[in-house]
Parts: sequence; C-alpha cells; structure tokens
Amino acid sequence: MASGQLSRAEALACSGCRHACHVMLYADTKAQLFGRIPIKHIILMQMRFDGLLGFPGGLVNPSEETLESGLSRELSEELGLALPISVEDHVDSCFAPPSSPSSSSRLITHFYVKKMDEEQIREVERAAASTAADHGLEVLGMVRVPLYTMKGGGGLASFLSHSFIGNARSQLVHSMLRLNLVAPRELHKALTHSLK
Ligand code: APR
Ligand code: MG
Ligand code: MG
Repeated sequence: MASGQLSRAEALACSGCRHACHVMLYADTKAQLFGRIPIKHIILMQMRFDGLLGFPGGLVNPSEETLESGLSRELSEELGLALPISVEDHVDSCFAPPSSPSSSSRLITHFYVKKMDEEQIREVERAAASTAADHGLEVLGMVRVPLYTMKGGGGLASFLSHSFIGNARSQLVHSMLRLNLVAPRELHKALTHSLK
C-alpha cells in the first residue's frame, strides 16, 4: 500500500475522521474527433462550485450509511440518477492533507471507479444537466477528459494543467495508467507538457 493510504477497514475504524467518497465513471467509445482522432474512452469529471475540477461524490456519514450508499446518495444529488456503487468498485482510501493547521478532524477520501457503457454515460450527462438538484449550484457542469494529445500539446496535457480539488488529479492519472486508458509513454509526455 502506498504511503498515506489505508485499507477500507482501517479508514472506518477512525472514529474522529470525516469521510468523503468520489467516483470515476468511464466507458469505452468508438467515436472519433474530427472523424480521425480516436477518443477511445469517456471519463467523466465535473466543474465544481469552487472552479476546480473533481470527481462526482462528496461527504458521507458512516454512522448512518455505508460508504457506498452515501456515495450513491451524493451521486443522486450531483448527477440526478441513483447509481448503485458496490464495495468491488472501491480503489483506495487515503488521508487528505489538513485543509488548515487548525482543522480538528481529519478527512479520509475514498476513491471508486465504475465502468459503464457509452449510452449509460450519456444518460448521466443528460440527467446531470437537467434533473440533478445540484446542477448550477455545487456542480457547474460535467466534463469529459480528452485522452489524446494533439500537436502543440492540446488535449490531455492542457486538461492536466487546470486546477483540481484535493488529489483528484493524481486519482485521474493513476486510474488512466492502471486501467490502461492512455499508453504510459503518451501519459508521460502529457504530464511533462502540462507542467511547462
Ligand atoms: N480527492 C480528494 N479530496 C476531494 C476530492 C478528491 N477527488 N474531491 C473532493 N475532495 C474533498 C473536498 O475538498 C471536500 O473537502 O472532499 C471534501 C468533500 O467533497 P465534496 O465533493 O466537495 O463534498 P460534497 O458533500 O459534495 O459538498 C458538500 O463540501 O466542499 C464542501 O462546503 C462545501 O458545501 C460543500 C460541501
Ligand atoms: Mg455533493
Ligand atoms: Mg461533491
């Protein structure tokens, strides 16, 4: 286990901790940008109320709900759909860095990944922009992550140069690698370019 990470059980044993759960929803696609650049995969993120990019989800209360049912509840609010999330979708849990030196209770963030098909992703996007209670409030809009790199660095490198909440950027990068959504060499190039 990487440093800062803890198992789901260890995380739940922390009585004074606050918990937040977020999920990366993704799908495969055959679509091509401009009819020639393969999109390959759709990964959903959101533009948050604070102007930062992040994954859908939020604070859960393990004394009243399981992590997964809490995450489903947050998804109903933010995406306008009740998406079932299971323990098998859990990827990792880790301590978030303290938001301020005086903040009393530590936040543990739990990260999930769920594969869907393209039509289900479209349904999520439609609901998020219409029936979701948080639309235009906590969530300004859903965005897809461009996974290709264009000449000059447009695409993934530009996307990664935006600002992200918490460790959402590293959750995205690790998931792309682990699930082989972007070739490691291409990802490395995009990461290097995004830091310029
Ligand atoms: N990785 C790590 N931490 C994250 C991530 C992420 N990918 N996404 C969000 N966080 C942190 C945020 O900084 C926040 O402190 O987790 C916490 C809760 O996540 P939100 O999605 O913001 O929570 P939500 O329950 O949807 O929003 C409710 O939370 O951000 C506050 O005051 C804000 O009223 C809002 C409240
Ligand atoms: Mg929320
Ligand atoms: Mg949220």
